[in-house]
Amino acid sequence: MTTSEENSYNKNNPYSSQLLVNRMLTEGSDKETRHFELSLEGSGLSYEPGDSLGVLPFNCSGVVDDLLAAVGFSGSEEVVIGETKIKLRDALLKNYACTVLSKIQIKKFNEIAQVDALAEMLKIENKDNLIDYMWGRELIDLFLEYPQPDLSVEDFTGLLRLMPPRLYSIASSLSAHSDEVHLTVAVVRYDTHGRKRKGVCSSYLAERVGETIPCYFHPNKNFKLPEDSDKPIIMVGPGTGIAPFRAFIEERKVTGASGKNWLFFGDRSQKTDYLYGDEWEEYKKNGVLNELDLAWSRDQSEKVYVQHKMLERSSELWDWLDNGALFYVCGDASRMAKDVDQALRTIAQEQGSMSEEDSASWVKALQKERRYLKDVY
Ligand SMILES: Cc1cc2nc3c(=O)[nH]c(=O)nc-3n(C[C@H](O)[C@H](O)[C@H](O)COP(=O)(O)OP(=O)(O)OC[C@H]3O[C@@H](n4cnc5c(N)ncnc54)[C@H](O)[C@@H]3O)c2cc1C
Ligand SMILES: NC(=O)c1ccc[n+]([C@@H]2O[C@H](COP(=O)([O-])OP(=O)(O)OC[C@H]3O[C@@H](n4cnc5c(N)ncnc54)[C@H](OP(=O)(O)O)[C@@H]3O)[C@@H](O)[C@H]2O)c1
Repeated sequence: MTTSEENSYNKNNPYSSQLLVNRMLTEGSDKETRHFELSLEGSGLSYEPGDSLGVLPFNCSGVVDDLLAAVGFSGSEEVVIGETKIKLRDALLKNYACTVLSKIQIKKFNEIAQVDALAEMLKIENKDNLIDYMWGRELIDLFLEYPQPDLSVEDFTGLLRLMPPRLYSIASSLSAHSDEVHLTVAVVRYDTHGRKRKGVCSSYLAERVGETIPCYFHPNKNFKLPEDSDKPIIMVGPGTGIAPFRAFIEERKVTGASGKNWLFFGDRSQKTDYLYGDEWEEYKKNGVLNELDLAWSRDQSEKVYVQHKMLERSSELWDWLDNGALFYVCGDASRMAKDVDQALRTIAQEQGSMSEEDSASWVKALQKERRYLKDVY
């Protein structure tokens, strides 16, 4: 078997993996999080807990047809991708990103459209207005708001970039599921400016089963289990941040690792959003998981988050860290990971009698020792 570093599949040459399982994890919730299982049978591919999977999605045909209608093309126009001539509609389905807006795209669009309001927003001092404008709008909105009846196909494709892959933290251990790779995906769906929208890749996966999915492994050497399997680990993974910790625990169980395991998980409601709840309860019962702390943000009037649970258990958490535990965080980078980082500093101040400055240095040292590891997005 080749190692993931050695395998020859990458974003330019993806592996076609059959999607075996597509299962809703949040039945009854107003949020859609799904569990996927993809086959690696016969591929000789491997990965390690902590790695990610890159997925190359196709655009949804309805989204492409609406865009073609808004721009005023039939889709049968010819375009060149690399050295191959293909129909515009096929290129929009398979090759181009044609939903999420970027500043550069709006700039290019306005070189053609010359709209004063867009020119104003593109000024550096108005960048917040541009961000507000872009949030909840897609490429189609530009054409609906500012129609360009004389646009050439070349000018249109000049606005587009090739479809970027999306990364997903792997939620399985190969030792526990040979020939499979599992993912935990929050499906992006929202309504803005009178249209129903969906995230390209999360909805591409959500709307399929049995088909082949173009993908490749993206190793992450900075988010690995400790080489010394006696070391305790603390895992903080609310929402889809749970994914790599499912892989970690499966691996520690199969390999009989003797280090203690502590999981902090949180989501909206225990009844509908306890991702892999049966597995965690079983692990807790049979002692694979030594500690399990759960934060349900919408089961009471006040928000309860993973960092609140960490602070409630600060004395034990400090003891674990004092005994050499590694501290892992996965999930939302914009708010959660920052708040968890702050909670860690507060614990160091309270339990280690440190000043604010010393606690910041202590957290930095923990990172330098590679005992504080993040997989945040
Ligand atoms: C290392 C890494 C690991 C990751 N692991 C996971 C994982 O395990 N599970 C997981 O689910 N994701 C994970 N992600 C995120 C994932 O890669 C995708 O970004 C995510 O699935 C969205 O992609 P999409 O194609 O569905 O949405 P896109 O088509 O890329 O659309 C997303 C865009 O839609 C817009 N948008 C989204 N919501 C709204 C809203 N409510 N209102 C207005 N606009 C909105 C924003 O512009 C946003 O940028 C990870 C990312 C990284 C970098
Ligand atoms: N369009 C949608 O319907 C939709 C729905 C969910 C997620 N998403 C997207 O999918 C991505 C991943 O979702 P996810 O399931 O991983 O996570 P998530 O839905 O963002 O959050 C998971 C849990 O973390 C809580 N949380 C919010 N802010 C926090 C903070 N500062 N510190 C700690 N916990 C916090 C949430 O509580 P609260 O939410 O109650 O505050 C929830 O209980 C998100 O980035 C989001 O953009 C979209």
